[in-house]
Amino acid sequence: MNTGWGWNGRPGPLMAACLEAAGAAPSVHNSQPWRFRPHPDGVDVLADRQRQVDLIDPDGRELTISVGAAVFNLRVAMLAHGRTPVLRLLPEPGQPDLLARITVGAPIEADETVRLLARAVAHRRTNRRPFTDLPVPPEVLDELVAAARTEHGRLAVVDPLAGPSVVALISTAEDRRRADPAYWVELERWTRERPGRLDGVPPQAFGPWPVPRTVPVRDFGLVWPARRRRVAAFEDSPVLAVLYTTADGPRDWLRAGQALQRVLLTATVRGLSTTLMTQPLEYPELRDLLGGSADGRRAQAIIRIGYGPLSPPVPRRPLDELIDSAPGWPVGVAGVTSVG
Ligand SMILES: Cc1cc2nc3c(=O)[nH]c(=O)nc-3n(C[C@H](O)[C@H](O)[C@H](O)COP(=O)(O)O)c2cc1C
Repeated sequence: MNTGWGWNGRPGPLMAACLEAAGAAPSVHNSQPWRFRPHPDGVDVLADRQRQVDLIDPDGRELTISVGAAVFNLRVAMLAHGRTPVLRLLPEPGQPDLLARITVGAPIEADETVRLLARAVAHRRTNRRPFTDLPVPPEVLDELVAAARTEHGRLAVVDPLAGPSVVALISTAEDRRRADPAYWVELERWTRERPGRLDGVPPQAFGPWPVPRTVPVRDFGLVWPARRRRVAAFEDSPVLAVLYTTADGPRDWLRAGQALQRVLLTATVRGLSTTLMTQPLEYPELRDLLGGSADGRRAQAIIRIGYGPLSPPVPRRPLDELIDSAPGWPVGVAGVTSVG
C-alpha cells in the first residue's frame, strides 16, 4: 500500500499535502510545536517540547491542543486526497511525546463537507481586529456546536447575559499577565521581529488596541507597543463560545484540539472570523470559574466569533524543518542516501 513516503524517507505528494495542511494549524503564540516522523504505515505526530510556551502553558495543555488541531488538518487533507486516515492517539504508552499515529487507510471518496473543510485550511486566520455588529445566525452557531460534537467536544455559546462576566474574566487574566515581568520576557521571545522569522506572532497580526476594552484580545504588542498599531472600537457585545471536554488529560487535549479546529474551519467555511482568547484558562482559579471537574466539564478554549475584515496570514516553518527521520529509515534529504 502507498503509505505516502518515498524510498528516501521524503514525503510523496499525498503525505506532503497532508503535512502542509497540518503545519497550517493554529498554535499557541504560533509556536508550531509539532514534528512528523515517517511510519511504515503512515505518519507519527510528535510534540516538540522545545517550543512549549512554558510560563503560560506549564503542563503543555495548549501545546497538545495545538498538535490536536494539526492532527485534524492532517486527517481532513488525507480524506480530501481520497484516503481514510486511521487515527490512534497516544499509540505507545511509554512515549508521551508521540501524540498520534495516522495510518493511510482504504481509498474513500471525499464528501462535500470534507472538501469545504480542506479548502478552508489555507484561509482560516486568527483575527484580532474589530468585527461588525452583524448577528451570527443561530443556525450557523448550531453548526459550530455540531462541529465540536462530531469531534467529542462540547461548544457552549455564551448567553448574551453572561457575556460581560466572561469578558471580565478575560480582562482580569490579561491584566494579571501584564503585571508579570516574566510574561513580558516570554512574550518578547515570541513577538521579536527577525528577518526571515517563520514562527511567533508578527506585528501585522497584532490588531489594533481595543478602546474601550469591550473585547480583551491578547495584547501581542505589549512589548513593542508602537509597532503598526492604532486604536479602534471593537464590537460592544462579542459573540463568545467556550469549548469543553469532560476530562483534562493529554488525550482530552488532543480531542479538544481536533474539535477546536473543526469549529474554526466550519466558521471559515461560513464566512466567519474567529479569535482565540484563552488567557483565563491559563490561571487554574480563573479556569475553574468556567466549570470544574466536579461538573464534568473542563474549559479548553474561548472563541470569539463574528464577521470581520480580512486578516493577514502569519508565517509557517517549511516542511523540511518539521520532518524527523524515523529510526532505521534512510536519511534521504537532498539525496544523501547511499544505495547498495
Ligand atoms: C491553544 C491555543 C491558544 C491560543 N490562545 C490565543 C490567545 O489567547 N489569544 C490570541 O490572540 N490567539 C491565541 N491563539 C491563536 C494563535 O496565536 C495563532 O493560532 C497563531 O498565532 C497562528 O496564527 P493563525 O491562527 O492566524 O494561523 C491560540 C491558539 C491555540 C492553538
